Amino acid sequence: MSKISVDLAGNGYDILVEAGALEHVATHIMPFVSNKRVFIITDKNVADRWLLPITAKLKKSGLAISSHIVAAGERSKSWAGLEQLTDWLLDQGAERSDILIALGGGVIGDLTGFAASILKRGCQFIQIPTSLLAQVDSSVGGKTAINSRAGKNLIGRFNQPKYVLIDPLVLNSLPDRELRAGYAEVVKYGLINNPLFFEWCEQHGANLLRRDPDALSYAITQSVQTKASIVAEDEKELSGRRALLNLGHTFGHALEAETGYSSALVHGEAVAAGMALAYHYSVRRGHCTDAEAQRVTAHLDSVNLPHGLESAGVKASGETLIQHMLHDKKMTGGNLPFLLANGIGQTFLAPDVDLNDIAAFLDIAA
Ligand code: GLY
Repeated sequence: MSKISVDLAGNGYDILVEAGALEHVATHIMPFVSNKRVFIITDKNVADRWLLPITAKLKKSGLAISSHIVAAGERSKSWAGLEQLTDWLLDQGAERSDILIALGGGVIGDLTGFAASILKRGCQFIQIPTSLLAQVDSSVGGKTAINSRAGKNLIGRFNQPKYVLIDPLVLNSLPDRELRAGYAEVVKYGLINNPLFFEWCEQHGANLLRRDPDALSYAITQSVQTKASIVAEDEKELSGRRALLNLGHTFGHALEAETGYSSALVHGEAVAAGMALAYHYSVRRGHCTDAEAQRVTAHLDSVNLPHGLESAGVKASGETLIQHMLHDKKMTGGNLPFLLANGIGQTFLAPDVDLNDIAAFLDIAA
């Protein structure tokens, strides 16, 4: 069991990582509940597996539960989805002092956190993430958003949860592909600033993907610790520190856009390919050695994650991919900052990347 704090002045919170924590869900969330009731927001897939047992435990502790179930998938993270959720909360008589529970993956956390930030000018929410990706990334740090016609996550706010409750055992029912995609974000933490953790991934990644409980708990704790400390240094991504968490994401978003944000390439897979591309582009710029980039590729390949254009199933030209990048929300003043690396675990923000050179690189990248 580990408790990790996100140290933020005024809105800090704890993250509990504990196998079996959901058995005692009522004990964990009770300190945050007013009005003896909670509003659970979840999706159809998660509801089928978890809503009943969790609701039963909360009711046993004397809480009234109302639940809102949305369709699984990105389409629920829309203006329409937000309107339905906020209308439902208002119909239920939700007050500012009430607490919402996001029970699900990244879509549910993002939608619920955003709704909480605007409902009656702001109420509280708790994250109970049920995918590996949500446990190690999206449930921590307070980025909340919906998608718009122009792209993903373009309408949103920073809104920190009151508490994050992570039970690695819920991952036992996660489909293999989703577990593997979430693992890409685990590897990311090694590549950002922790070469020893990347080494751990090389040695134990396959065990984690076989759902070894110790491997899962260790990797989740390491990932969340890294994320919590980076968020505490730069909550709103102003200094460049938090931007490190976007390693692989600029290349990755272009690949996701090219595949229409479809199930052909899910987010974690795109990030995996994007991280390998970032390392190989770093070799082109003379920042890191080819052997280091090959090490990244070899590890991703060993766990069946994409590590470039071909393995991501993307055939587009460099110019086409650059066009997707121009819609990236990180564009500032016509520049797109890229996360590059001086070596394993030595990611840095490069503000001066020439997009024509990226296009030329992508034209010859495998
Ligand atoms: N997923 C990147 C961040 O939370 O900043």
